[in-house]
Amino acid sequence: MNFQLTEEHLLIQGMAKDFAETVLKPGVIERDEKQVFPRELIRQMGELGFMGMMVSPEYGGGGMDTMSYVIAMTEIAKWDASAAVIMSVNNSLVCWGLETYGSEAQKQKYLPKLATGEWIGSFCLSEPEAGSDATQQKTTAVDMGDYYLLNGTKNWITNAGHADVYLVIAQTDVEKKHKGINALIVERTMPGFELGPKENKLGIRGSDTHSLNFNDIKVPKENRIGADGFGFSFAMKTMNGGRIGIASQALGIAEGALNLAVAYAKIRKAFGTEIRNHQAIQFKIADMAMKVEGAKLLIYKAACEKDNHGDYVASAAMAKLYASKIAMECASESIQIHGGNGYVKDYHVERFLRDAKITEIYEGTSEIQRMVISRAYLKD
Ligand code: CAA
Repeated sequence: MNFQLTEEHLLIQGMAKDFAETVLKPGVIERDEKQVFPRELIRQMGELGFMGMMVSPEYGGGGMDTMSYVIAMTEIAKWDASAAVIMSVNNSLVCWGLETYGSEAQKQKYLPKLATGEWIGSFCLSEPEAGSDATQQKTTAVDMGDYYLLNGTKNWITNAGHADVYLVIAQTDVEKKHKGINALIVERTMPGFELGPKENKLGIRGSDTHSLNFNDIKVPKENRIGADGFGFSFAMKTMNGGRIGIASQALGIAEGALNLAVAYAKIRKAFGTEIRNHQAIQFKIADMAMKVEGAKLLIYKAACEKDNHGDYVASAAMAKLYASKIAMECASESIQIHGGNGYVKDYHVERFLRDAKITEIYEGTSEIQRMVISRAYLKD
C-alpha cells in the first residue's frame, strides 16, 4: 500500500488549495451571511476542471480518478463548504450518474455543459414525506406512451435555484414499489417546472436549497435514465459515490478547523506564553489531528475501492459517517481553542461548525449510514 499522493494528485491539490485561499476565502463570510450563491466562482471552478473531474475528456471532463476528486473537494471545503457541496452534487451525483448510467445521447447533450460549469446539475430524491425512507416516493411519473407526465414536490434540493438540469426520482408503478421508480432528466425550461421557496439554513448558506414543484411536466421518454424501474437503484448507486464526496467535504471542514486552531495557538498568548505551550491545547490538537488522519484513511480507502471497481458501499458509508462526526468535533474544539474569538464570524470557525452539521444529515443521515454498514456486515 502506498500512502504517497502521485505528482498529478499533488498538482490538483495545489490548484484547489490556491483557488480556495485566493478566490473563495475573501468573500466567504459575506456569502454566508447574505446567502449569496457563488455563480461566477462556480463558472471559474468549471474552467479549472473542478465541476466534472471524473467525466471522460470526450464529454468535456477531466477524466480523473476519485482520489483526485476527493483531494480537490477537501481543499475547497477547507475554506468554503458551500462551494464544496455545489461541486459535490454536480460531480458525484449528476455527472457521475449520467456518465455511468445515461444513454449516449444523454451524455452528449448534458455532460459537456455540466462538466465545464456552464450548467449546474441538481439531484432530486428527497420529498416532504420521503427523506431517509427514500422508497416512499410520492412524485409520480405516469407513463403516457412517448413521454412521462411528472407531478409532485421535492424538498431540500441542493443547487435547485441555479441548476439547469435536474435528475428527478419518481414513482411510475406503485404496485412494483421501489422497482417501479424511474429517474428522469428534467430541464428547468420545461413547462410545468416551478421553483419553490429558498430555505434559510443554519449552514452551507452560500449554496442554495429549494423545494421544487412539478406540474404536469411532459418529460420525453428519452430522458429516462436506464431501463424502466431502474430509478431507485440509480439513486442508491449514485449516492454511494456521493457519500465519498460529502465525506471529503466534512474532512475539509475538519482539517480547516485544525489548521486554524494550530495557527491561532501559535500567536495567542495566555498566562505568559503562547497557548500552544499549554497541555490543554496540545491534547486538543493531538486529538483533532488523529481524527483528521483517521477520516482521511477511510475516505482514501473508499475512493480507491471505487476506482478499482470494488464493492465500496460500506466503505463510503463509513467514510461519511466518521468524517461528518469528526467535522463536528473538530469545528467545536477549534472554536474552544479560539475562545471568544471563535464565537465571532471573522475567525471562520463558527461557520465551520454550522457547515459541519449538514454533513451528518444529507446524502443519508448518520443513522442511515449505520444501517448501510451493519447490513453489509450482517447479511447472509
Ligand atoms: N447501493 C446500491 N443499492 C442499494 C443501496 C446502496 N447503498 N441501498 C439499498 N440498495 C438497494 C437494495 O439492494 C435493494 O435492491 P433490490 O430490491 O434489487 O434487492 C433496494 O435498494 C431496496 O433496498 P432496501 O430493501 O435495503 O430498502 P430499505 O427501504 O430498507 O432501505 C435505504 C433503503 C438504504 C434506507 C435507502 O432508502 C437510503 O439510502 N435512504 C437514505 C436516502 C438518502 O440518502 N437521501 C439523501 C437525499 S439526496 C441528497 O441529500 C443530495 C444533496 O442534496 C446533497
